[in-house]
Amino acid sequence: MSTQGRKNRSDKVTTQTVVNMKRSGEKISMLTAYDYTMATIVDSAGIDVILVGDSASNVMAGFDTTVPMTLEHMIYHTSCVVRGVERALVIADLPFMSYQVTIKEALISAGRMMKEAGAHAIKVEGGKYVAETVKRIVGAGIPVMGHLGLTPQSIYKFGTYKVRAKDDLEADELIKDAKLLEEAGVFSIVLEKIPTSLAKKVTETVSVPTIGIGAGPHCDGQVLVLHDMLGLNKDFSPRFLRRYADLHTTMTDAVTNYMKDVKNGDFPNESEQY
Ligand code: KIV
Repeated sequence: MSTQGRKNRSDKVTTQTVVNMKRSGEKISMLTAYDYTMATIVDSAGIDVILVGDSASNVMAGFDTTVPMTLEHMIYHTSCVVRGVERALVIADLPFMSYQVTIKEALISAGRMMKEAGAHAIKVEGGKYVAETVKRIVGAGIPVMGHLGLTPQSIYKFGTYKVRAKDDLEADELIKDAKLLEEAGVFSIVLEKIPTSLAKKVTETVSVPTIGIGAGPHCDGQVLVLHDMLGLNKDFSPRFLRRYADLHTTMTDAVTNYMKDVKNGDFPNESEQY
């Protein structure tokens, strides 16, 4: 299949597909990816949405928070993912301080993510403080996903990665924020680490799909960080995480066996040489 053909597949997931999935009651599956090889695997498996999250900061770069991520880093990761994807909708996070300072800067950041990286949509964190910005980005023709609850770019404001909006005040704010984002034109909203009952209420309140991470089963879809659900990272074990593989052990065993074979002269054998 030519590159042109691959990119023009008729079953490609669009933002409209995702909105329609909420209407028809079909759950939306979303995972992160940050590089070409992982993106090809996740896309071939049939995932609906790939998020190039700024969690790349933790997972790929080894930082403690998502704060250090730059627009250049995110454009690089997103372009790698886009080259590996035929079907899934690819959404890219706008990193910290690439959209908060002025609306003009936000439009430039979102535009670069679409034009230079080839993203299909962008995601921003926050509610009322970004609503006007969201409106302008959507007005420019760029689909936007919102993100409420535990928004990791605000970690220094929160001071903790614990569950958000457990009290009525913060819960009411979050519902208002979700409505404001909907009015501003988002096509979907991530709800991170909030009580199940609140996520249910938000999901019933807004017409756009909610995608939960640590937000219970009532969201319209679920997202996990790929490296966490594959068990690549042994140290991160939040309650919401389900591990579907133990690739840390699988990879450690593979490396150990390779080392053994090299040391004892077993690799390469006769059929592995020219
Ligand atoms: O950066 C990220 O991976 C995210 C998800 C956890 C939703 O924002």
